[in-house]
Amino acid sequence: MLASQWTEFDFKLCTSAADIRAAYTLRLELFHEEQKFPEETEIDSYDPISAHFIVISKKDDIVTATVRLTPYPLSINPVNSFDNANTPPEQKHLQLGGLLGSVRNEQEIVNEFLRDECIGAKLSRMAVKKSYRGKGLGAMTVQEAENWLMRTLSEKKKALTMTLSSQKQAQNFYERIGYVPFGEPYDEEGMEHIMCGKEISLVTFE
Ligand SMILES: CC(C)(COP(=O)(O)OP(=O)(O)OC[C@H]1O[C@@H](n2cnc3c(N)ncnc32)[C@H](O)[C@@H]1OP(=O)(O)O)[C@@H](O)C(=O)NCCC(=O)NCCS
Repeated sequence: MLASQWTEFDFKLCTSAADIRAAYTLRLELFHEEQKFPEETEIDSYDPISAHFIVISKKDDIVTATVRLTPYPLSINPVNSFDNANTPPEQKHLQLGGLLGSVRNEQEIVNEFLRDECIGAKLSRMAVKKSYRGKGLGAMTVQEAENWLMRTLSEKKKALTMTLSSQKQAQNFYERIGYVPFGEPYDEEGMEHIMCGKEISLVTFE
């Protein structure tokens, strides 16, 4: 995507219930309706402690992409009610409530990443709305998320290890933007995945 095209979009950290709802709506559209993952597992225990981002088309206000970054290693026990794949449908609203309950201002979100034991971020729920794919938006979204980490953490940390669990079909996408696959492919919710990683330096040179 050309830099001039990127000016047609706003990249936004989710700091309101409306922002988080918009991210969740696009995630459901993509991972549940399109890719057929269960709706019940869309929200998980990473959500309340993650930084969520949305990309909005300035022309028509459409949310075109989303991604989340989770401080790594996790500050919480990852096994909680959000992880339960068998959550009955009537409890779905509780899950959304949990996600909306994670509405925090930017400083509160940054604080999760500033903990001494936080050495990196896990990138997940990367989604570009179907009609906007193949235009460089996904690559720019990941770049902007990395830029946010650099901007907000560079005074306190020197480097971060980025990790992600890539669907095998998306491996090339991540490799094009510097993520290197490692380990053996594995099954996650019935789809083949592979771990990928990237080191990012937060040190800026004048
Ligand atoms: C994967 C996804 C996020 C990529 O976003 P996008 O905006 O279409 O990607 P971009 O246009 O920024 O592509 C960047 C590069 O990756 C390549 N690429 C994009 N999607 C790809 C895919 N699924 N497989 C292989 N290569 C891909 C592009 O060809 C492009 O290469 P180029 O630089 O040589 O042109 C998007 O297609 C998507 O949301 N897919 C469905 C959900 C999904 O798979 N999410 C990832 C879960 S791990």
